[in-house]
Amino acid sequence: MKALITGITGFVGKHLEALLKDKADVYGTSRLNRSEKHIFEVDFSEETKIIELIKTIKPTHIFHLAGLSNVKDSWNHKADFIQGNVIGTIHLLEAVRKADHQINVLTVGSSEEYGLIPQGLDKVTEETALNPVSPYGISKSAIGMLVNLYHKSYGLNVIHARPFNHIGPGQRLGFVTSDFAYQIALINKGITKDSILRIGNLNTVRDFTDVRDIVEAYYHIACSGEAGEAYNVCTGQGVFIQDILETFISFSNKKINVLVDPSKLRVAEMSRLVGDPGKLFKLTGWKPQQKLEDTLKDIYDYWIGKC
Ligand code: GDD
Repeated sequence: MKALITGITGFVGKHLEALLKDKADVYGTSRLNRSEKHIFEVDFSEETKIIELIKTIKPTHIFHLAGLSNVKDSWNHKADFIQGNVIGTIHLLEAVRKADHQINVLTVGSSEEYGLIPQGLDKVTEETALNPVSPYGISKSAIGMLVNLYHKSYGLNVIHARPFNHIGPGQRLGFVTSDFAYQIALINKGITKDSILRIGNLNTVRDFTDVRDIVEAYYHIACSGEAGEAYNVCTGQGVFIQDILETFISFSNKKINVLVDPSKLRVAEMSRLVGDPGKLFKLTGWKPQQKLEDTLKDIYDYWIGKC
C-alpha cells in the first residue's frame, strides 16, 4: 500500500500515520508548510494542486481526513464547513478522476449525517435515512452522496466511513471529553482556583470509540470495503454524557463544582445517537479493543501532562 493521508497532522491523521507506518509507504497533506519530507502543503481549494500531488506520489490509497470537524462551530461558520468539507472533497474526487481513476479513496463522514432518527430506533444502520440537524451533518452527508455519485457515474473506487464519536489523547478542546478532562486537570493542578467545571448538555447519549480503534477500522475498510458503500464505525454501546462526566470526576483528587454554561449548548442536537457496527464486523471482523474507562483515563493523563 502507498497511502496518502489528507490532514495527516490532525488528531486522527497522526494516529492513522502511526498505524500505517509498518504497513505502507505513507505520505500526507497539511494546510500549513511542514518540514517533514513526506508531508505536502495542500488546502483542497484548488484541484490542480491535488492532481499534481497525485501524479507525484502515485498513491494506491487515499484516506481523506482533511476537513472541519467541530459540530458546535459549524453553526457559526456554515459556509466554511460547506467549503472545507464538501467543495474540498469535490476537488479531491475530481483530481482522482482525472489523475488516476484506480486509486482507492476512503472518505470520512459522521454519525451526524443521520441526525434526527425515527423514534424508538435503538441503533442506526447504514440503511437509516439521513436527516442531519447541524451544518456539519449536512456537509458530511453531502460527502456521502458524492461518494455514491462518483462511484455510480464514474466507477471510482471510493468508500465512505461513518464514524460515531471518536476520542483519545491529543484531541483538541471543543470536544466533550477534552473539554471535561482539561478543566478537571486545571483544577487538580491548582491552576483553576474556583473548582468550577463548565459543561453543556449532559442528557445526550452517544457512541464513543477510541481513536486507535477508529484508525484500525479505516485501514480494514480501505483494504476490503466495497466501493460505493458506507460503513458505520462505532461500538454499538450508548453512553450518557453524564456518565462520562462522572468517570472524569472519579479521577479527580479535588472536589469539582459543575456549572451549566449556556454558551456550550447548541441550537439543535439529537438526544440519542448510537450506531450498529454489524456491517463492518461482518466485512472485516473489526471489533473495538480499548475500554472506554481506559480511554478516558488516557485523555485525563494527557491533559494533566499538558497543563
Ligand atoms: N464539546 C462539548 N463540550 N460537548 C459537550 C459539553 C462540552 O462542554 N457538555 C456536553 N456536551 C455534549 C454535546 O452537547 C453533545 O451532545 C456531546 O456532548 C458530544 O459533543 P462533542 O464531543 O462536541 O461531539 P459531537 O457529538 O458533537 O461530534 C463528534 O462526533 C461526531 C460523530 O458522532 C465530533 O467528533 C464530530 O467530528 C464527529 O463526526
